[in-house]
Amino acid sequence: MSDQAKIIYNDQTFEAPVVKGSEGELGLDISKLRGSTGLVTYDVAYKNTGATQSSITFIDGEKGILRHRGYSIEDLANNASFLEVAFLLLKGHLPNKKEYENYADLIRMHTLVNEDVKHVFQAFPNGSHPMGQLMTMMSMMSAFYPDSLNPHRIEEDFDMTITRLIAKTPTLVAMIQKKKMGHPLVYPKNNLEYVDNFLNMTFGQITQEYAVDPVLSSAMNKLLILHADHEQNCSASTVRIVGSSQSNLYASISAGIAALWGPSHGGANQRVLEMLEEIAKDGGNVQKFIDRAKDKNDPFRLMGFGHRVYKNFDPRARIIKKSADEVLGQLKVNDPILHLAKELEEKALADPYFAERKLFPNVDFYSGIIYRAMGFPVDMFTVLFALGRMPGWIAQWNEMRKAGQPIGRPRQIYTGEVHRPYPSWDERG
Ligand code: ACO
Repeated sequence: MSDQAKIIYNDQTFEAPVVKGSEGELGLDISKLRGSTGLVTYDVAYKNTGATQSSITFIDGEKGILRHRGYSIEDLANNASFLEVAFLLLKGHLPNKKEYENYADLIRMHTLVNEDVKHVFQAFPNGSHPMGQLMTMMSMMSAFYPDSLNPHRIEEDFDMTITRLIAKTPTLVAMIQKKKMGHPLVYPKNNLEYVDNFLNMTFGQITQEYAVDPVLSSAMNKLLILHADHEQNCSASTVRIVGSSQSNLYASISAGIAALWGPSHGGANQRVLEMLEEIAKDGGNVQKFIDRAKDKNDPFRLMGFGHRVYKNFDPRARIIKKSADEVLGQLKVNDPILHLAKELEEKALADPYFAERKLFPNVDFYSGIIYRAMGFPVDMFTVLFALGRMPGWIAQWNEMRKAGQPIGRPRQIYTGEVHRPYPSWDERG
């Protein structure tokens, strides 16, 4: 096979080198296209644009494959702890026993947040959205750790910024939930491992010991792993592009949280539950909502259905669906919302509209059902996604930084007015 592709435009021929990935992916390197021909490429929403080379995560959307550093998501979700996966994403290999213990100890040592953070929390009005709070808290971290502002400082200092992020985000997320409930904060208990510590800070009370249910702990661990990274999605691309201007890591992650918040991305998990509640309130007529989703004059979409990359199934959704059954069985939950979710899934999958467009339930369709059964408020769901995505965002940012990638700056096709003279007030009518 030729290592070059020819782009012919009028009498100009541009030879684009073909870039090959380790899984056989091929891309055209068009970085010199404009210099040679004056043309830019046009690809709204970057649907077919490779923005970088990356060795972190591989997805084959047609085959439903997701792998981190070569390990399948199924193997990781069924065998690993979230901290192991975080280590894998950040360092490139699975830790051996000693490395893992050292890493878990290191993270444990940094779980507390500065007491002054509480003052920032007090300023949030009751009812403010947890994602807005998390974004603010993330930017605020740069104020508490000004040594993080320079992304070019020595590696050891940089590693500490990453350690703080992994260690303190569960504490911040738990603080958000406690603020929401109006309950006093539960501080980290560092004899607990990462996920149990988080559950204790979130659901525990300062007045009594909280017994972490192993089924819930395992489900939470799995959910965090399933969200840990997803290559160049909207939020990871945002983190990379903000970081490409040499912005600090906390600011870049804060921007990633903003991108995740939207209902087309991570915000979908909240919207799935709200949609199911709306269907229930409306009398439970699932077909009516499916018909609305198919109606091009109605902006309503089936939340939790469809994916930019997965076109047959979302492998994370398969794992999570099984986990949802286990959790609901353990908690003996008989939730009418769950029955509606199952009916909606069955009806949509049998409908040619969804089959023709390759629309399947994504990870967000089921995650909200588990979070709800565990007792998380609906508007916390996307924050939990952000907690899981933290190592992925950091790994993407760090890869970009280490590769010395230049500032991200797309081109455009301008469609506005051509040059016109500046009119006087009288000429403007
Ligand atoms: N309900 C109804 N129709 C849909 C849905 C949906 N959920 N998703 C896509 N479609 C239709 C579109 O109307 C379009 O139809 P058309 O070809 O007749 O015009 C076709 O399917 C293709 O849709 P696009 O919007 O072009 O697909 P895109 O790849 O741009 O969007 C997205 C993917 C944003 C995920 C979309 O499927 C969606 O909005 N889903 C609902 C929100 C959601 O669940 N988001 C979470 C994604 S997973 C994640 O971020 C973790």
